Amino acid sequence: MLTSVASAVRQSTASVFRTATRAMSTKAVETTVNGMPVKVYNERGDQRVIVTKDLPGQRWVDILAYANCRVEVCTDPQTILDNGKIKQLIGDKCDGVIGQLTEDWADELFGALKKAGGKAFSNYAVGYNNVNVPDATKHGIPVGNTPGVLTETTAEIAAALTLAAARRVCEADVFMRSGQYQGWLPTLFVGKLLQHKTVGVIGAGRIGQAYAKMMVEGHKMDIIYYDLFPQPKFKEYLENYSKFCGANDERPIKVTVAKDPEEVLKVADVVSLHMLLDKTTHHFINKERLHMMKEDAILVNAARGPVIDEVALVAHLKANPEFRCGLDVFEDEPAMKPGLEECANAVIVPHIASASLWTRGGMATMAASNVAGILSGKPVLPQGSYVLDFLEEPLGSPKMEFTPSIVNDKDLGLKMA
Ligand SMILES: NC(=O)c1ccc[n+]([C@@H]2O[C@H](COP(=O)([O-])OP(=O)(O)OC[C@H]3O[C@@H](n4cnc5c(N)ncnc54)[C@H](O)[C@@H]3O)[C@@H](O)[C@H]2O)c1
Repeated sequence: MLTSVASAVRQSTASVFRTATRAMSTKAVETTVNGMPVKVYNERGDQRVIVTKDLPGQRWVDILAYANCRVEVCTDPQTILDNGKIKQLIGDKCDGVIGQLTEDWADELFGALKKAGGKAFSNYAVGYNNVNVPDATKHGIPVGNTPGVLTETTAEIAAALTLAAARRVCEADVFMRSGQYQGWLPTLFVGKLLQHKTVGVIGAGRIGQAYAKMMVEGHKMDIIYYDLFPQPKFKEYLENYSKFCGANDERPIKVTVAKDPEEVLKVADVVSLHMLLDKTTHHFINKERLHMMKEDAILVNAARGPVIDEVALVAHLKANPEFRCGLDVFEDEPAMKPGLEECANAVIVPHIASASLWTRGGMATMAASNVAGILSGKPVLPQGSYVLDFLEEPLGSPKMEFTPSIVNDKDLGLKMA
């Protein structure tokens, strides 16, 4: 049983490590390190990377092994590891970490990582509101995230929530399973048709735009959107699509760039939230803004729970039975605010927006590429770069010679591609 990672890591010579890792020594060994249960890949790798929760797929392990890393995946059954356990995992020698969005990555953990010789951290998520980036920067630790691979998958869940709320899919499912169906009726579970209604998007970034395209092209919805930035390429895309509809005997869609979020809330039949969570977007949807929305509107949130004041939402759902919502995320996750579970006009799913196999494997690959890239001194791609090559290119190919996404690259003065 291993009790000191430092001694284990020092056992082999660098040349042996290279040979071992190039041969892709990726079979896992179950053991205990620093008192924590782990499975270890590429035991003789000379840079120690810990992964706080197991990740899907194999490529991410191969990427880290190829970068000569010993990979330790925590197998502790606690769903969300507390800081004490994470510090125990880090121990006195740790080069890099892949962490989860449910963990609190701030001064305490970055301080422990720095003390252990840490040089890289990647969140296993595109959003990084759980990471105090200035604290990481203070300790000189690059913070990676996983953009690009969640976009369509997350947009699909927002679309699924929209459709389920509009057409009362979950209520009807419960009705059917409970044996209440006695035959077709003209009034049974009458919902809302989305076609030619107005979809509102707040936060027209990668996911917001992908969702908007699904609703506009799939359901011929008019669109009104608000973002802190005007997103001119997106506007041009929508306007060209509208012209395409007109030229093909379809009703051209109406495209509106809102001057403020209130305009979206007042006009739209469906409002989907896709902004990031920060101090300015906490409780972005509150009691006042809910009252601005149409009485029978649909509100969708696949961004982060705290962008909605969930207590106000529960009150609004109860007072307005025709109002509907679709929620993937919750303010006090994993808990729901009291009363939400009783609201039949709410569709609720447990934070599964990124849960497609392709995406979860892709996120693992991106997070591993961030950590491996920093530990191997590879230059960092500018934010917004095309990153899907990391999912497919052979290891060692020139397209893999970069670090895909580091959010504090400029603050740390990292070498850029
Ligand atoms: N539910 C999930 O599992 C899941 C999965 C992926 C992403 N997300 C969340 O979705 C968010 C968006 O992801 P993305 O990849 O599209 O990010 P992105 O950075 O491409 O887009 C975010 C957009 O929000 C805009 N924005 C920021 N503050 C705003 C405000 N106050 N008002 C209006 N617009 C504002 C930004 O300008 C940007 O265009 C992430 O930050 C993450 O929190 C959730």
